[in-house]
Amino acid sequence: MPELRFPNLYIVLFAVFAIAVTSMPCHSDAAQPESAAARDARLKWWRQARFGMFIHWDMSSLAGTEISWSRKGSKPLDIFNDPAGYVEDPVYDHLYERFNPTKFDAKQWVKLAKDAGMKYIVFTAKHHGGFCMWDTKLTNYSIMSTAFHRDVVKELSDACHEAGMPFGLYYSPRDWHHPDYGIGDDSKYLDYMTGQLKELLTNYGKIDCVWFDSFGHGDSISYWHADKVLALVRELQPQAVINNRCNSFANSVPELSGDFDTPEQRIGSYQIDRPWESCMCVVDAPNGGWSYRTDGHVKPLDNCIRTLQGCATGDGNLLLDVGPDPTGIIPQDQADRLIEVGAWLKKFGRSIYKTQGGPFANGEWGGSTFAGNRLYLHLFQPEKGALLLPALNAKLLHAASLSGGTVKCELKDNRISISLIGYKSALDAVVELTFDRPLSRAAGKAAFDTTP
Ligand code: GLC
Repeated sequence: MPELRFPNLYIVLFAVFAIAVTSMPCHSDAAQPESAAARDARLKWWRQARFGMFIHWDMSSLAGTEISWSRKGSKPLDIFNDPAGYVEDPVYDHLYERFNPTKFDAKQWVKLAKDAGMKYIVFTAKHHGGFCMWDTKLTNYSIMSTAFHRDVVKELSDACHEAGMPFGLYYSPRDWHHPDYGIGDDSKYLDYMTGQLKELLTNYGKIDCVWFDSFGHGDSISYWHADKVLALVRELQPQAVINNRCNSFANSVPELSGDFDTPEQRIGSYQIDRPWESCMCVVDAPNGGWSYRTDGHVKPLDNCIRTLQGCATGDGNLLLDVGPDPTGIIPQDQADRLIEVGAWLKKFGRSIYKTQGGPFANGEWGGSTFAGNRLYLHLFQPEKGALLLPALNAKLLHAASLSGGTVKCELKDNRISISLIGYKSALDAVVELTFDRPLSRAAGKAAFDTTP
């Protein structure tokens, strides 16, 4: 019988089949949840960075009004319950025909971020208004249809990669320009979005961060398939850090919460069990200030520094936003403020970068950061006198001001009482305490010392 005449052939065939099966990429592995250690390692650079630059920019800068939100067409599925489907805005939707930002120089933007002490950049590839700032093959509503005709995402990602600056993409799942978005059956739109994400996540080298900005109303998983969107990002850019907005407004689903929380236009509260990043604008303008606003005002320096200190002491990052003008330049008043923050960071950077917020909660008095056996006290009200710290696990060896002034410390019942005198400005009131061993988290709170 032939079967008996070639037994070895069956063995060989079986062996070949077995090898083929075992050497196939194992998809179930890819779907395995990431271990806490692997996640910590992936997020390490981002947590150490503490301070990044957000950039909101597209042709809306020509109008000097808020990006997307100033569009008068409809905003389907959004907070105003606008009707389904695309409704044209005869002005906003045609701004791109005049968009020609010839002064755009990606290297200058990256240089400014560096001078500001910012350690990563996140750029709006597509905001809710649907205009695309890269060479997408999936719509003509993009930078390639303007007189400028240059791929901004490409130039900026190249400049970042060259400068060793981690680069992140903001992509709005909401799209108020696409005819297939928000019409009831959004499957065509989802194909479009998936195609665009594939372009962005494969054609621009390493993407360090993906910043989504909500789908609009509708169930995140059964309707928007947000779980698949996240899986696509993980597959194409496995190291990317992802925010928590690959989600609809209505339901907050734990498995869609990404790597970090995103308090918006406010300093996040002391939260040490999950990473977070406050996104805030350097410009104050009614209902936003994310993009270039002719009616905006740059926030004062002390506000920017306090915001950064508030984030770092709360164990979070700050993603500070700028809005380039229609010529492609980050306006001088915004740039100047950023450079001032950078100058502050040159002096005080070691109390911010590579630190953790804590080891005890921050408060109105200020807050603390720590790294190993060093603790940095950011005193917001040094004029109010001595601060009594909660009991710590280590012995104080040394106390010094990072910028002049004299530190006075006393030990009171195992608690350290600290005051700073002779500082020049309240923004200089950062004190470095050195201990005999690495610090661990403390349960108590700091308070002004009212003991005799
Ligand atoms: C909001 C706004 C938007 C901005 C974003 C940044 O959700 O819709 O304009 O881009 O927040 O956090």
